[in-house]
Amino acid sequence: MSKALHICGLFLVIFLLAFCAPVLAGHKDRPFKKGILLTAFGTTVPEARSALDNISDKAKQRFPGVEIRWAYSSRIVREKLAAQGQSFDSPAMALARMMDDGFTHVAVQSLHTIPGEEFHALTQTVKAFSGLPKGMQSVVLGLPLLAEPTDVEACAAAIMANLPAERKTGEAVILMGHGTHHPGNIYYPGLQYSLSRLDQLVLIGTVEGTPSLDDVRRVLKERKVSKVYLLPFMAVAGDHAVNDMAGGEEDSWQSVLAADGLTCVPVLRGTAEIAAFVDIWLDHLQAALERLP
Ligand code: CO
Repeated sequence: MSKALHICGLFLVIFLLAFCAPVLAGHKDRPFKKGILLTAFGTTVPEARSALDNISDKAKQRFPGVEIRWAYSSRIVREKLAAQGQSFDSPAMALARMMDDGFTHVAVQSLHTIPGEEFHALTQTVKAFSGLPKGMQSVVLGLPLLAEPTDVEACAAAIMANLPAERKTGEAVILMGHGTHHPGNIYYPGLQYSLSRLDQLVLIGTVEGTPSLDDVRRVLKERKVSKVYLLPFMAVAGDHAVNDMAGGEEDSWQSVLAADGLTCVPVLRGTAEIAAFVDIWLDHLQAALERLP
């Protein structure tokens, strides 16, 4: 190595010591404090909230001693709850509070089903809180339920392991996913591909994306199905499950399928109430916690 390079190196060391040491010392002033921020879309249906409590309880058992906080990513849900006197933080508000409360390392866990709009907005929020002056040393984000290809397989297996016990041969199970115009919607047809290899009569439809209810109806007709079980494929059996899936309105899935001559049995249970799905979310949280320095 040349002499000039050695001198350059020496200056670099001096520079680092002079300018960076106070910054590093500043970080060390804050004692290490690790936290988890669980972030769901949220729900206005009180009975559905127990599904989210179930995730909290399971996370507490799996990561003992780490403080767990909540945020709801849906502004509409937060505003409706606020009108009822219940206050829930947005992800940004929850992270700001954690920053002020002295957390140094935070793992944010997305409790969304797919990496769609809600998840990508959360990505931006987490990025904005990373490396703020006098802020948290590290903020990482755990992936939603369906992210890696192995998650699709794991989800299909979780669905198969939790089909209604009373289902008989020839009866179909229809899962109602949310669906979106976001490219993340591709996970629903992806999941259908995995499910079809396991059971030709376990079908996924979505409220706002593809496959649609009409896609599902076509398959039911082709396969001459006469009885179906309707299950939400959402974290909670909230507004969509109660009204759009199992509601009495003419355009609910139950009403539309009944008009097609099918017997419908709705099962109001969100994926957050079922251990096999919660385990996938918590595996993602564990992976995020392991990424914390
Ligand atoms: Co919706």
